[in-house]
Amino acid sequence: MEKKITVLPGDGIGPEVVASAVRVLQVIGKRFNHTFHLGYATIGGAAIDQHNNPLPDETIDMCENSDAILLGAVGGPKWDQNPPELRPEKGLLRIRKHFDLFANLRPVKAFPSLLDASPLKREVAENVDLMIVRELTGGVYFGEPRMRTENGAIDTTVYSKAEVERIVENAFELARLRGGKLCSVDKANVLETSRLWREVVEEKKKDYPDVRVEHNLVDSVAMKLITNPGHYDVVVTENMFGDILSDEASVITGSLGVLPSASIRGDNFGLYEPVHGSAPEIAGQGVANPAATILSVAMMLQYSFGLKEEAAEIERAVSAVFDDGYFTADLARDGGRTLSTNEWTDKVINEIDTSFVSE
Ligand code: NAD
Ligand code: IPM
Ligand code: MN
Repeated sequence: MEKKITVLPGDGIGPEVVASAVRVLQVIGKRFNHTFHLGYATIGGAAIDQHNNPLPDETIDMCENSDAILLGAVGGPKWDQNPPELRPEKGLLRIRKHFDLFANLRPVKAFPSLLDASPLKREVAENVDLMIVRELTGGVYFGEPRMRTENGAIDTTVYSKAEVERIVENAFELARLRGGKLCSVDKANVLETSRLWREVVEEKKKDYPDVRVEHNLVDSVAMKLITNPGHYDVVVTENMFGDILSDEASVITGSLGVLPSASIRGDNFGLYEPVHGSAPEIAGQGVANPAATILSVAMMLQYSFGLKEEAAEIERAVSAVFDDGYFTADLARDGGRTLSTNEWTDKVINEIDTSFVSE
């Protein structure tokens, strides 16, 4: 198979974790006889510095001519005082919107060998395997009006019925393929958009009699996700709730550094990125955990290219390296070996290609 991928390293630890993920992608290509053509472009702070634009036209053009996008992370203190249109995060929001990537899949799976790194009790965190389906192109992130007023500021949560329908449908389809359980998360006791959300879920559930549905308020889900994460299978929610709940869910696995994501729109095209950000305080030190980005490549292989065996091989390799007791600093603990980003990536590559010798 031949595929074109646009690589957007971005800012902070973005370039470091993307370099690792690209190495893993290339070794998968070698082992399974695929050719991945990579084109590099800028986004976020790096793009602001070079082009005074967090999402330059050249970047959009390259992405449009690709089969998928791999992204690191954007943002950092250097640009935090910039006006809204010249913030790195704006580049990320614009690329999601431009390509209509409305479905953000954020799987949360406990690796057995990481259970000691989780602050949760082993019996609470073990066997967790859930999928947060986050709506990504609507809600308060994009609603108008948004502005500063004389005495304050306004953001607006907006959802059309069609926007809710397509993400809810997506979640039902996924629930059907997984454990048959769907938890819809909203704040229907207060918000009008949440009442619409709940109605749409109730309507759609008639088409999915095989899926068990529950509605839960977001504040209580924030609690239950930590006290009883094993209860959840597919969790569907609006943009901002999904953002917050997915960082929270990383606590189950032991580190934000292991959570991947796919942002898709229903065809084969997609953008793949870790759930975490640019972690400026550890950038440039070679200590970031590349697992989330490597696992995002696995999601790309699966969702955009239909390469299930290759995706499974990446997941197996990552898991095996943890099982062997190798961790980056975020997961370090007594008795384990702490490796740099590159050393840890070498271990993963070694698992996939036994002829690989690290330098
Ligand atoms: P963050 O996710 O960058 O970091 C949160 C914490 O997790 C930090 O302690 C960080 O060191 C740690 N961490 C994150 N990823 C890690 C990894 N791979 N390995 C080891 N440790 C890791 O969130 P933040 O600090 O709130 O935000 C920093 C910047 O990143 C901000 O500018 C924010 O806007 C941006 N951000 C970007 C994205 C994205 O590009 N998708 C996502 C979230 C935040
Ligand atoms: C994420 C990030 C982004 C979001 C920011 C950087 C715009 O937190 O991808 O989770 O809020 O969607
Ligand atoms: Mn986030």
